[in-house]
Amino acid sequence: MGGKIVSVGTTRDALHDPWIKKHRKQISEIDCAGKVVIPGFVDSHTHPVFASPRLIDFEKRIEGASYEQIAAAGGGIRSSLEGVRSATKAALQAKVLGVMNDMAAHGTTTIEAKSGYGLTVDSELKSLQAIREAASRWPGTIVPTLLGAHLVPREFADQPQKYVAIVCDEMIPRAAKQGLARFVDVFCDKGAFTAGQAEQIFESAVKQGLHVRAHMGQLSETRLAPFLRFNPASFDHMDHVSDDDVAQLSKHGTIATLVPGANYFLGLKEYPNARRLIDAGVPIALATDYNPGTSPTVSMPMAMSLACTQMKMSPAEAIAAATINGAWALRIADHKGSIEPGKDADLALFDLDDYREIPYWYGANHCRLTLLNGIVFRGGASAHVGTRNTSARG
Ligand code: NIG
Ligand code: FE
Repeated sequence: MGGKIVSVGTTRDALHDPWIKKHRKQISEIDCAGKVVIPGFVDSHTHPVFASPRLIDFEKRIEGASYEQIAAAGGGIRSSLEGVRSATKAALQAKVLGVMNDMAAHGTTTIEAKSGYGLTVDSELKSLQAIREAASRWPGTIVPTLLGAHLVPREFADQPQKYVAIVCDEMIPRAAKQGLARFVDVFCDKGAFTAGQAEQIFESAVKQGLHVRAHMGQLSETRLAPFLRFNPASFDHMDHVSDDDVAQLSKHGTIATLVPGANYFLGLKEYPNARRLIDAGVPIALATDYNPGTSPTVSMPMAMSLACTQMKMSPAEAIAAATINGAWALRIADHKGSIEPGKDADLALFDLDDYREIPYWYGANHCRLTLLNGIVFRGGASAHVGTRNTSARG
C-alpha cells in the first residue's frame, strides 16, 4: 500500500487478513504460486553514464593486453571521456534510463549510479543531472554517487594535484549544493588516485555532508585502516587486501562490495577472496559494476552465479549479498533489501521452482516481473497496482 509492504505471510494468512478482506476490490493480485519471490536486487555499484561500448579495449584484451596496458596506450577510462563531454544531457538521460529498465527486467529495484566519465566540473554535474532526470522517470530507487575522482584526465596529467583540488573545491561542493549526489567515490589504485589524494577527497565530501565509498584493491593493495575515520559505507572490488585490514573491517561495519563481473570480463584467473572476508565477519555485498570497460552487464543473477562458482559463495549467501547487504552498502537497509512489513515494496519474481536456480541458470534471464516501490514492471511497461501483500501467494 502506497508502495510499502503491509504484511508478510502465507496465502492462508492473507486470505484471513481483515484489511485484505475489507479492501479486496482495490487490490490487484499477482499470483506467484510455484514461483520464487525475493527482495528486488540492490545493485550497489554501477557506472551507467557513458556514451559508447569500448570494443577496441575488448579486442586488445583478447589479444593479450592488460587493463593497465590498454589505459596507458590511450584506451581505458580516458577514451570514454569525449563521448560524455560532447553528449547532451538528454542523450545521457535516455541512455541511463535504458540501463535502468534493463536492470529492472533482470530483477533489480535499487541502483547506485555513479558519474565519472566526464571528469570536468560541467560534465560531471551534467552526468549527475542525467541520473537525476532518468531516476524521475523510473519507478525504482536510484542512489547517485559523484565519481569525479575516477582518473586524472589527460589535461592534468602533469599536475594531478590541481585536478584533485578541482574535485575537492568545485565538484564536490557544487554537487552537494545541488543535491545531486549522496555519495562520493574515489578510484584509489595505481594509475588512478593515491591514498593521500583519496583522503583529501573524502575530507571534502564529509565536510559537504556526503557519505563516502571507494574503489579499493582492484589492481593493487591500499592500506584501508587510515580511511576508517571517514566512516566509509563500502570498499569495492577488494581483490587485494591485507589480513590486518580484513580484521579492522570486521570491527567497523564497512561493507566489502565484490564485483566478480569485472574479474570475469577482464579474463582474470583470480577472484576476490569472499570466503576469507565472510569467515572474518566482514559483510559482503555483490554488485554488477556495470560499466563499458570492465563489466558491461546489467545482470545481478550473473554476478551471483560468478560469486557461487568462482568465489565459493552459497546461493543463499549470494542472494543476501545482492539484496540486504547491498542496501547496507548504500545505507538504506532501514527501508530496502528485505521483504518486511513497513519496507518498500521492491520484489523480483522468477519463473523458477527453487531460489538456487537464480545463480544456476547463468546467462539466461528468468525474472518475469519486478515490483518497484509497489509499481509492476514487466520488461518495459510499468503500471501502478494497489499492492497490499503481493508476496503472500508465493
Ligand atoms: O569499477 N576501476 C574503476 N572503474 C571501473 C572501470 C571503469 C572503466 O574501465 O571504464 C571499475 O572496474
Ligand atoms: Fe566500478
